[in-house]
Amino acid sequence: MNERRYLLRTFGCQMNEHDSERIAGLLTADGYVSTEDASDASVVVFNTCAIRENADNRLYGNLGHLRPLKQKNPRMRIVVAGCLAQKDGGTIQQRAPWVDVVIGTHALPGLLDLLHRAETGGPQMDVSEVTEVFPSALPALRGVSHHAWVSIAVGCDNACTFCIVPLVRGPQRSRSIGDVLAEVQGLARRGVVEITLLGQNVNTFGRDLTVPGSPRKPLFAELLRAVNEVEDLRRIRFTSPHPHDFTPDVIDAMAESDKVCEHIHFPLQSGSDRVLKAMQRSYRRERYLEWLERIRAAIPGIAVSTDIIVGFPGETGDDFGETLDLVRRARFDQAYTFQYSPRPGTRAATMEDQVPKPVVQERFDRLVALQEAIALEGMRAQVGSTAEVLVEGTGRKGRTQGRTRTNRLVHLDGEHAPGTFLDARIVAAHPHHLDGELVRETVAVG
Ligand code: 5AD
Ligand code: SF4
Repeated sequence: MNERRYLLRTFGCQMNEHDSERIAGLLTADGYVSTEDASDASVVVFNTCAIRENADNRLYGNLGHLRPLKQKNPRMRIVVAGCLAQKDGGTIQQRAPWVDVVIGTHALPGLLDLLHRAETGGPQMDVSEVTEVFPSALPALRGVSHHAWVSIAVGCDNACTFCIVPLVRGPQRSRSIGDVLAEVQGLARRGVVEITLLGQNVNTFGRDLTVPGSPRKPLFAELLRAVNEVEDLRRIRFTSPHPHDFTPDVIDAMAESDKVCEHIHFPLQSGSDRVLKAMQRSYRRERYLEWLERIRAAIPGIAVSTDIIVGFPGETGDDFGETLDLVRRARFDQAYTFQYSPRPGTRAATMEDQVPKPVVQERFDRLVALQEAIALEGMRAQVGSTAEVLVEGTGRKGRTQGRTRTNRLVHLDGEHAPGTFLDARIVAAHPHHLDGELVRETVAVG
């Protein structure tokens, strides 16, 4: 009864997942245990996202649901964290005065302090703009023990006209290679076999640093090669590179580092040069395709995923046709497709020619149908091959689920512990997963 419990809801991207592991870590270190039941929670945290969906409405809806619970239990503490907290700050407590703590993306290390202060001092807020501590340097409570996110840089120096990230996460700040390496080595010693390096734009990693004792700046390719040397680590992933400035040394480092997986997330956004220009994305369609070709030539069998936005302001039927054409030529293994959503404060939100919703929907449906067919073809081409699978857990119907190095999801029969590596023969293909049969377990971890 006296046990203090927390409920944590995470919205949005991997950065937020990563931040949530830190929020859970801080609360656990302070003696809280996790719960899924709001009526049972002494602290409820919403880690919010501002990038796309109508996050504001969703947050205020969620906060509205909590209000009666808070009235019944005034000792319950409600925390709003993440990008929406950073962006909206005091507006949140004005609209929902029953919120106790608003904490921005840079202020996470101070969470417990703010909670304690809220006990006696009423509502608290910290949306300061400077990161003093990287989230990875805080204690973490990870959802799984074999995989870890590792942030290598926070913030973004680009100014894509649709994107809120530079406004809420600020300019890029990189971590030193030494710090990243020390963290990865520690993780590997504790049984983590797969890491995902996180940055808004990994190509520009290190641009804000210099190598100690030299005027040179550290490079992402160097970081990849260094992490590749970490003992007992088996797989390295990263997200995301920006096609702008994608440099040959990164392709070489990927090709030559055996632990770096054969998968790249390469965000396209649009196949129309006119729209790319309006988005302030500095590459053009032919250059994008050229890069893809080079990457595929250097790393045979590499899987490619992407992000595409449909209905950017001013997008014509012809522009959209260019996107469809590029999608046919690029043959992505996976595409995250988004309907353009105006984010207040961004340049695109005030552009003329916002595309009407029914037009966006119709284009979106066509793009999804095309991409699903292409993805299925790509999956079918895997049938008959044998792939290394890292087990993630058990899915619906009790089947084991895991991922290949190419990030394809594989379902198979039998029970295998998360973190186990096995070889699976691929026997059937579906648009979003493959069916496999066990050939043999290779390494059991833990
Ligand atoms: N509307 C729709 N999609 C967006 N994204 C970012 N901002 C917006 C927006 N305003 C998408 C981009 C980006 C991904 C993380 O989210 O495709 O790559
Ligand atoms: Fe947003 Fe562009 Fe930065 Fe990505 S590169 S976070 S889309 S501004």
